[in-house]
Amino acid sequence: MAPWMLPLFYSLLLLQYSPPSFAKFQPRYFPSSINHPESRSLPSNNNLYKTKYFTQILDHFNYNPESYQTFQQRYLVNDTFWGGPKINAPIFVYTGNEGNIEWFAQNTGFMYDIAPEFKALLVFIEHRYYGKSIPYGGDREKAYKNSKNLGYLSSTQALADYATLIVDLKNNLTAIDSPVIVFGGSYGGMLAAWFRLKYPHVAIGALASSSPILQFENITSQYSFNNIITQDFRSESENCYKVIKGSWDEIDEAASTRRGLERLRKSFHICKNYISGDYVESWLMEALIYTAMTDYPTPSSFLAPMPAYPVKQMCKAIDNPKFGNDTFAKLYHAANIYYNYTGGISCYDLLDDSDPHDLGGWQWQACTEMVMPTNGNNKESIFPGSTYSYSGHAQYCEETYKVQPRPNWITTEYGGHDIKRVLKRFGSNIIFFNGLRDPWSGGGVLVNISENIIAIVEKEGAHHVDLRFSTKEDPKWLRDVRKKEIGIMKGWISEYYHHVTMDSHEH
Ligand SMILES: *[C@@H]1O[C@H](CO)[C@@H](O)[C@H](O)[C@H]1NC(C)=O
Ligand SMILES: *[C@@H]1O[C@H](CO)[C@@H](O)[C@H](O)[C@H]1NC(C)=O
Ligand SMILES: *[C@@H]1O[C@H](CO)[C@@H](O)[C@H](O)[C@H]1NC(C)=O
Ligand SMILES: *[C@@H]1O[C@H](CO)[C@@H](O)[C@H](O)[C@H]1NC(C)=O
Ligand SMILES: *[C@@H]1O[C@H](CO)[C@@H](O)[C@H](O)[C@H]1NC(C)=O
Ligand SMILES: *[C@@H]1O[C@H](CO)[C@@H](O)[C@H](O)[C@H]1NC(C)=O
Repeated sequence: MAPWMLPLFYSLLLLQYSPPSFAKFQPRYFPSSINHPESRSLPSNNNLYKTKYFTQILDHFNYNPESYQTFQQRYLVNDTFWGGPKINAPIFVYTGNEGNIEWFAQNTGFMYDIAPEFKALLVFIEHRYYGKSIPYGGDREKAYKNSKNLGYLSSTQALADYATLIVDLKNNLTAIDSPVIVFGGSYGGMLAAWFRLKYPHVAIGALASSSPILQFENITSQYSFNNIITQDFRSESENCYKVIKGSWDEIDEAASTRRGLERLRKSFHICKNYISGDYVESWLMEALIYTAMTDYPTPSSFLAPMPAYPVKQMCKAIDNPKFGNDTFAKLYHAANIYYNYTGGISCYDLLDDSDPHDLGGWQWQACTEMVMPTNGNNKESIFPGSTYSYSGHAQYCEETYKVQPRPNWITTEYGGHDIKRVLKRFGSNIIFFNGLRDPWSGGGVLVNISENIIAIVEKEGAHHVDLRFSTKEDPKWLRDVRKKEIGIMKGWISEYYHHVTMDSHEH
């Protein structure tokens, strides 16, 4: 579903409890849950991995007969660099997030870059209900048909899938003593961190990149997400911030007349189908939010093809004196950087509902466990003021899925409150990377918890920038981050080998 479809639901349900405008748009689906007209089909990259399937149990936590059903779970393997079981060479596992696993594998070049040095086997496991890992015989329609069938889509089931698959794979490879390190970015990073806490006997460590495990309940402010976006643009130029901040009223005003709407349509090159002010606003917000998230220092094409430092490029367009006082022209040129960098789009179809990365399941997850309040906007926000409404969220979930979210479940199951006090005494071997330009960094772990639960915080960094393929143009800070991560993981592995040797002497 295209993100700019969302206001449709929101205006349906928010009209009842909230004045119009920004509250309509909640980036409630996860960061990477983005669609882009240019990335409609995934490039198939057959040189990076082999595709495999594993017969997985539908319900790990129940013994009623229906729970014994199975489904085919996809995973990708690259064994080119693996040192093999004889030397207990390590296994690096990517704990897949909410989408097609090929997309994540292709965007986690860091694992490929370091595999030769570690002689590591690379494994990327797809999250259930996404991509090709669909229960009910792979019948997506059936799996998504109702809450009864969707009920098996949860983070706890996904973690149990990963544990089951890893244990089975190690058996098959007779690599019982090979150490496993789990990797993940975004929701995948949350899963990696939680996996290490829940399955310490399966993984010796986790690299959790840009994983907002504290963006739950009231641990992190609901304003943090949009404050960071505001800061990203404001630090480029005060004018850029002011133009964007002032544009929402102008759009609302234009949208109130037929002539104004036509002007909006022309200014933003929108196709001749349905258009409303809400659509235009959420379409623009998408561009701003996701550009802030992926404000990478080199050209990239994760969510969309974009130049290096795209926030700077957007502000350049907005600050360009050529557009005089024409706010819409400024914003149109800024949005083009996100939506049309390669120039292939003839008009913007705000009704496009394609979902090339198959991220639709996040809506269900957000309606059950993943209640992450991010859409508050204070007076300084670059977006119109609003406060997060749990009741609005719950009402949407009731109407859509006939379920009530459980906003306290994640912290009950995995913790989060007083994380430093708790994990200092309990956990070990987790790296939390966060780039402070990433709006999700506000919900990340930003302080060192202990000697081996380490926060790497980089003020120039964006959403899991460390996991990207390295390039010659990478700035020094990024090379330093990766060096640190490699050094820490080497420490985990050599400590592990040391313990394996000591244990075998004891026997
Ligand atoms: C593993 O990845 C490398 C690129 O880093 C590629 O050259 C190789 O063909 C891949 N191996 C497999 C088995 O896909
Ligand atoms: C392990 O081997 C069995 C038997 O060939 C196979 O069915 C299973 O899928 C394999 N496990 C994995 C994780 O590939
Ligand atoms: C967060 O705090 C507000 C105000 O104190 C309270 O009304 C709300 O129930 C809290 N939400 C959660 C999920 O704890
Ligand atoms: C923008 O400038 C034009 C003349 O260049 C003027 O007619 C118009 O009123 C200005 N609009 C605003 C909103 O200031
Ligand atoms: C996309 O960019 C191309 C090349 O600059 C331009 O011709 C086209 O009009 C743009 N599309 C939209 C929808 O603005
Ligand atoms: C945490 O400690 C490591 C050294 O072990 C250091 O490199 C890193 O900068 C520290 N992180 C923070 C947020 O202070």
